[in-house]
Amino acid sequence: MSKWTEARARTPLVSVRNIDVTFGNGRNAFKAVDNVSFDIYRGETFGLVGESGSGKTTIGRAIIRINKVSAGDILYEGKRISGKIDRECDREVIRNIQMIFQDPMASLNERAKIDYIISEGLMSVNHGMSAAERKEKVEQALLDVGLLPEFASRFPHEFSGGQRQRIGIARCLVMNPSFIIADEPISALDVSIRAQVLNLLSRLQQERGLTYLFIAHDLSVMRFITNRIAVIYKGVIVELAETEELFRHPLHPYTKVLLSAVPVPNPRVERKKKVLVYDPGCHHYSDGERPVWAEVVPGHFVRGSERELDAYSEERDK
Ligand SMILES: Nc1ncnc2c1ncn2[C@@H]1O[C@H](COP(=O)(O)OP(=O)(O)OP(=O)(O)O)[C@@H](O)[C@H]1O
Ligand SMILES: [Mg+2]
Repeated sequence: MSKWTEARARTPLVSVRNIDVTFGNGRNAFKAVDNVSFDIYRGETFGLVGESGSGKTTIGRAIIRINKVSAGDILYEGKRISGKIDRECDREVIRNIQMIFQDPMASLNERAKIDYIISEGLMSVNHGMSAAERKEKVEQALLDVGLLPEFASRFPHEFSGGQRQRIGIARCLVMNPSFIIADEPISALDVSIRAQVLNLLSRLQQERGLTYLFIAHDLSVMRFITNRIAVIYKGVIVELAETEELFRHPLHPYTKVLLSAVPVPNPRVERKKKVLVYDPGCHHYSDGERPVWAEVVPGHFVRGSERELDAYSEERDK
């Protein structure tokens, strides 16, 4: 590959730039997402990890324009898709960016047939589609996720959690998107079917060159499915690195805590292991000192004060 194409290959598909998302207003205003930035490159799986309530879903919803950003921009292929955009751009977002929702038991309209659930988005961008074409696309989407085409005439309550999540994936695929936000797509599923859904997502990625934002509250499956990971704590990203780099050299105390909770396959090691607890009070900032976002080694970013960054950098070099 020439230098030129290599540089082009790293052009971000999605850029999140200094976004804030605030709920409520006045004295009740609550900033759920605080100055968050990251790029997602074409074809990669970008992980976003943090405990419950840290703002992961809010970020996903901001990207697909369900949540408004109160500051910052979101770009798709270099074009701003946050804030006020024209109708053509809005349709482009709907077509290209899809989200698999966190809870398959709650995210499907119980009164609608599967056929309607899967084709709803398609109809909204393509009013002139014939019934035959729609039927064909729905059946193909069901087949693509390993379900039977005849399921189209059934209702959601007839399906198990794993099947419902496949329906959620079919609903995305039918739009032929390039970018999918997978919001904890396996957390609500039985352990026995989690691998099936993960394998399905990874097969679809390979076949269609999809780009994923994969959201999870812990790091356990992330090592195997993501290329890079951002760690978020209370609406603020504290560390971002390539997956192997993050697992080998976690620098921020919160990342270390998340890693300490990942189960180790060896039971003897696992039994003796200490699960750490994060104390945000461990960052002692004196007057005038404030944490910044810095690149410790290429591609590995961490948030800290000058003093903390010196320590992280020394630790990284050890
Ligand atoms: N529509 C809303 N109105 C008010 N507050 C909200 C709204 N949506 C989210 N929040 C708050 O924003 C914060 C972040 O929520 P979010 O759902 O993004 O967290 P999360 O990281 O996805 O958590 P989980 O792992 O539990 O899904 C939480 O404190 C939540 O209560
Ligand atoms: Mg969530």
